[in-house]
Amino acid sequence: MSRILITSALPYINGIKHLGNLVGSQLPADLFARYCRARGHEVLFLCATDEHGTPAELAAAKAEMPVAEYCAQMHRVQARMAAGFRLSFDHFGRSSSPQNHRLTQYFAGRLADNGYIDEVSERQVYSLADGRFLPDRYIEGTCPNCGYDKARGDQCENCTKQLDPTDLINPRSAISGSTDLEIRETTHLFLRQQSLKYELDAWIDSKADWPILTTSIAKKWLHDGDGLQDRGITRDLNWGIPVKRGDQDWPGMEGKVFYVWFDAPIEYIACAAEWAEAQGKDEEDWWRWWRTDAGAENVRYVQFMGKDNVPFHTLSFPATMLGSRDPWKLVDYIKSFNYLNYDGGQFSTSQGRGIFQDQALEILPADYWRWWLLSNAPESSDSEFTWEKFQTGVNKDLADVLGNFVSRVTKFCRTKFGEEVPEGGELTEGGARLVADLTARLAAYTGHLEAIEVRKAAAELRAMWVAGNEFLQTAAPWSTIKTDRDRAAADTRLALNLIRVYAVISAPFLPDAAAKLLEAMRSDETGWPEDIGRALQVLPPLHGFVVPETLFAKITDEEREGWAEKFSGQR
Ligand code: MF3
Ligand code: ZN
Repeated sequence: MSRILITSALPYINGIKHLGNLVGSQLPADLFARYCRARGHEVLFLCATDEHGTPAELAAAKAEMPVAEYCAQMHRVQARMAAGFRLSFDHFGRSSSPQNHRLTQYFAGRLADNGYIDEVSERQVYSLADGRFLPDRYIEGTCPNCGYDKARGDQCENCTKQLDPTDLINPRSAISGSTDLEIRETTHLFLRQQSLKYELDAWIDSKADWPILTTSIAKKWLHDGDGLQDRGITRDLNWGIPVKRGDQDWPGMEGKVFYVWFDAPIEYIACAAEWAEAQGKDEEDWWRWWRTDAGAENVRYVQFMGKDNVPFHTLSFPATMLGSRDPWKLVDYIKSFNYLNYDGGQFSTSQGRGIFQDQALEILPADYWRWWLLSNAPESSDSEFTWEKFQTGVNKDLADVLGNFVSRVTKFCRTKFGEEVPEGGELTEGGARLVADLTARLAAYTGHLEAIEVRKAAAELRAMWVAGNEFLQTAAPWSTIKTDRDRAAADTRLALNLIRVYAVISAPFLPDAAAKLLEAMRSDETGWPEDIGRALQVLPPLHGFVVPETLFAKITDEEREGWAEKFSGQR
């Protein structure tokens, strides 16, 4: 048994997230967390809302609410969505927590003490119409890199290039649309990432097992073009964590706050402190996850995120941690994802395009979405959601294969043997072949889950469901029972046991269906099968069960067409 710390990229507070956000971090993180727990590891799975910065302020302004109130409300909504999708966070925190305020200010103080902070007088865009500076997303314009005309001051959504507000062509205020802008001097803190460049480079080189997507993005940022730049970590905004040096005021920084991308990843740590407080635990209880001088040297830390987040997690955040010269636990493995597209275009929060979490849960239960999204996760390349693909995936895999197996076996048994596991007979030849096949497949499945190869894991799980159906079809207990009751009993017993095994191994993907199956089989034996042959004997002869309700309903063509129509425009 080991200890595994898992974090998912923190969703912005600025609205309900779409399914692309879900599959790009939270959902695969949950899959992995559930799998690790099932293997008996001690897991701490953390996520939180990312509440600062211009996205939060802009969204609050649009909702005509004070920003603190807006964030508190949206946090509750996002927590409800997370519960709806069965995301099994140990704690769902907030980057605006007092813990994160303290820790962010503490980090800034440490970095300053160690000489990694410069105070820089720089030129920022000021809007005369709005009477304020326009950092990051408060400014929009054309991307100098790809020409996209809705690029924001911090990053181009289209080509993922990180930008400076002064880089934009034809800039305009995102608040008022005004182009009456001027450049003014203002002082800001810069994190001297350049002087940590060789350390970061060596650290990334030491991660030979990282996915190519992660390493290539990190290396590109480190070496391409101008290479790693020192970064401004403060902003002229009201909402955020006030700039302090530890618990001391920072002369010249009055009225300024830390940049959202400085404080957000620190919330990964602060979230553990929030968790400890909520659980009535002490500082040492969360330090053992985060400090290598307090037990975290034995922790494996895995992060999940979309590809646009990779530079911040491979460079900026590690620079913050390394520069503190404290023994913080650095990430061991970064699993990153490409984008999920929607019906020939991008999912987009700002444009209301695609399917959003609340809408998804209104039309179908969580397991349907979890299965389709995970089995089509955008791992090696972008992937695409279409209603046809969704219908086919759900109907074939869940209804025709898994659901059908369960229903045929349990109904057949009820009719011929009653609602208990039949006795008599011995493992048939077909049964033995199934055991051998599943033994090999389970090893492959487990290997894919260990390696966090989400699609491959899903494919192997599906193959195990298919193997069960094929076994049943060949064994045909409905005909053998006419001549050899013992043989039919043995095969049926095996198949009933297989339902329990399916429940256990499918649970990381399909937690609700798994719970239903275990209940129907009247079993609370959820240990991960080490030996399939033995796992298929856990339900003994005469063990009672019930025929479960239909596990998965098929998506009809009318439903598909209706939803395609309903979700074709803007939210
Ligand atoms: N809110 C960011 C996004 O949605 C992710 C923040 S991850 C963290 O892209 F590390 F900063 F927390
Ligand atoms: Zn661009």
